[in-house]
Amino acid sequence: MDRRTALKGPICVPGDKSIAHRALFFAAQAQGATQIFGLPRGKDVRSSLNAIEKLGAKVSLAVGEDGIASVMVEGWGSDGPKPHMPEDARTVDCGNSGTTARFILGMLSGYPIKISLDGDPSLKSRPMRRLLDPLCSMGLSCSSCTWPIEVCGAERLKPITVELPVASAQMKTALLFAALRARGTSRITEPAASRDHTERLAEAFDIKLVKLTCENGFEITGPQTPCAPDDPIVIPGDFSSAAFWITAALCIPGSDLTIEGVGLNPTRLGFVKALQAMGANISVECIDDGTSEPYGRIHAAYTELVGPCETLANESATFIDEVPLLAIMCARATGESLIRNIGELKLKECDRLTAVIDMLSQCGANARVVENEDGSLDLLISGKAKLGIPDGIKVSAHHDHRIAMAWAVLSAVCQVQIRLDAGDIDSISVSYPGFLDEFSRRLGYAPIVRVE
Ligand code: S3P
Repeated sequence: MDRRTALKGPICVPGDKSIAHRALFFAAQAQGATQIFGLPRGKDVRSSLNAIEKLGAKVSLAVGEDGIASVMVEGWGSDGPKPHMPEDARTVDCGNSGTTARFILGMLSGYPIKISLDGDPSLKSRPMRRLLDPLCSMGLSCSSCTWPIEVCGAERLKPITVELPVASAQMKTALLFAALRARGTSRITEPAASRDHTERLAEAFDIKLVKLTCENGFEITGPQTPCAPDDPIVIPGDFSSAAFWITAALCIPGSDLTIEGVGLNPTRLGFVKALQAMGANISVECIDDGTSEPYGRIHAAYTELVGPCETLANESATFIDEVPLLAIMCARATGESLIRNIGELKLKECDRLTAVIDMLSQCGANARVVENEDGSLDLLISGKAKLGIPDGIKVSAHHDHRIAMAWAVLSAVCQVQIRLDAGDIDSISVSYPGFLDEFSRRLGYAPIVRVE
């Protein structure tokens, strides 16, 4: 089988998962009906869609001839949620989605409704305490902080002044949803800037918030009810999904790929910045048409030699989901790379820090964690000119979609075929159903073999 194929041509990726979750949650809380175009088909977004529907939003989903989904959501507005569940059995299953779980907790904090949140084993291992603590100080009651998490919101929620312990867009958003229902001004800050999709969408839903100039964060005065925008929300392609194609194109000889219609929000582009500093052949053409999110085209072409990378501690949130891919790039760079402040990776769908180190060790690169005096964790990677993995080996992605796709990229880069179990392969549909088929089709061979 010839595995020396290159990735060519234009390509589109599914709609941005982060923006989709937020658009659905704002729309559910809004007065009026919101049209959302470009909804991704992944299971995570489906968990949010199901959740808002169960809680009382009216949802109608349509799939166009191009296969792209759009949804109309009629929110509960000032009437508040009206769960379609018997009062003694109000459980929302968040599946694998930490975003869904955290957003529900924030959103329901201001309503006296008892709700129980459940999820899959991965979600149940993820930290919720650091969100529940500030929400409980606002008035949320929590009868079980372990899974299934049982909470009951308060009619009168107190505002909060909080400095998040880590830069986290999920926590920031959950607290903003709670602050919408609080009486008074809340102030939410974080140690570094995380993705700002929530702040951008808040404006589209006519929410008044004041961005702080000297700190990363905002003040918001409640109560406020989002107002459905007149114009549809159009979700651009997901940069984090595009990142798999970018990495493969940069590493596979002869590749020349253009990704069209992808979101180019600057708070998501830390990976591009790092790649450009390494000397990778990647360029970005941005269209900022005044709608809430900039988007455009990314061009990536094979780059034989890349230099090492050294990222700053305060920029890790801008590429946190791309670390497995940045690590692959560093593994084939000349010299030592240092990716700073990525301890949060241990708390994702799996312990991604350990998963990445295991992955690099399989292809002959050396990576280790360095712990700093303040407790933060860096990843130190020694580059290796040519990566290689034994053909046919069986590896594990710990049922984590991004690790499974990173393995597919690494396998293609090494021009081998590796084996993953069915659960690992199925996990990909959390964010990017169809990725493996399209990747295999464009490569001309299957870099992953499914083991039942
Ligand atoms: C996300 C924020 C990040 C990211 C996750 C999606 C979001 O998580 O890793 O995939 O949509 O807000 P944290 O907020 O936990 O850092």
